[in-house]
Amino acid sequence: MGNRVCGLFGIKYPIIQGGMVWVSGAKLAAAVSNAGGLGLIGAGSMKPDLLREHIKKAKTLTDKPFGVNIPIFSKYSEEQVKVALEEGVKIFFMSAGSPKKYTPYLKEKGCTVVHVTSTPTLAKKCEDAGVDAVVVEGFEAGGHNGRDELTTFVLIPQTKKIVNIPIIAAGGIATGEGIAAALALGADGVQIGTRFAATKESSAHENYKKALVNAKDTGTMIYLKSIIPVRLVKNSLTVKIEELEKRCADVEEFKKVLGESPAKRAIFDGDIDNGEIEAGQIAGMIEDIPTVFEVFERLIKEYKDTLNRLNHFDFSC
Ligand SMILES: Cc1cc2nc3c(=O)[nH]c(=O)nc-3n(C[C@H](O)[C@H](O)[C@H](O)COP(=O)(O)O)c2cc1C
Repeated sequence: MGNRVCGLFGIKYPIIQGGMVWVSGAKLAAAVSNAGGLGLIGAGSMKPDLLREHIKKAKTLTDKPFGVNIPIFSKYSEEQVKVALEEGVKIFFMSAGSPKKYTPYLKEKGCTVVHVTSTPTLAKKCEDAGVDAVVVEGFEAGGHNGRDELTTFVLIPQTKKIVNIPIIAAGGIATGEGIAAALALGADGVQIGTRFAATKESSAHENYKKALVNAKDTGTMIYLKSIIPVRLVKNSLTVKIEELEKRCADVEEFKKVLGESPAKRAIFDGDIDNGEIEAGQIAGMIEDIPTVFEVFERLIKEYKDTLNRLNHFDFSC
């Protein structure tokens, strides 16, 4: 019996590139799919027409399976689902909302549906709603996070205990060692974000990619916990956010400081002082901006070397 995640999507390696606003357009998604993983077009930063363009473009760049990530809370989610279906997309990674909203409809249309969650209890609810697999995303991850602060290391085994569908681990994984650890804990595959955000094919601004390379071990923190928690690289904007958080400022004050599209400002426009640099804790391990193909070569070699090392590891003296 082969790997359940590979079987579900028809891919070579159980490595998913997480959908990422302003980062994962057609180019990145297709590169990941061509390398043997599953690329996802991040619809979160796209109006429906732009999403259509990216899906069309991805189809010209790869003949391998790829999918879309649609945050349910987006005001465009319904139209994005419609556009993706019209364009023949069969793989949907849904996040930030109830799995009950689109799962029955998408299953009726013959699609594979995955839901992103941050607790084992929610993962079980996703299974009950009929999804095909769950992404369990730890507190280490880049982007928006769950409120309960569960880490990937504790999420995987506790989810494994209560769900039967394939588990895709996300958060803090950027190496083959990380993949081996996730699989050892009971995951069937992994979803990687930050590592792919700093690749040549990522549509993020060069300044953003360099900010990930420059981020050290303590370079990120969760901000905006009282509104919508998000892990960001520390910068001038996060200093201002911290001041507001310290004095329990109201939402209007936060809105004023954040301004319009703070994530776009940093990730896409390159203003890394005044925008939100969404990235995971693993940014501390990122030292370069390789191609997606190079990332895959490394991941696979590191994974194999790790298994070999553990096979010969002296567990007792
Ligand atoms: C810049 C950035 C944008 C993201 N945008 C989204 C998004 O639109 N939808 C979503 O479900 N997850 C989003 N994520 C989370 C990723 O899909 C992925 O689950 C996460 O990055 C995995 O953790 P890692 O960053 O430690 O690899 C984003 C992450 C980053 C770094």
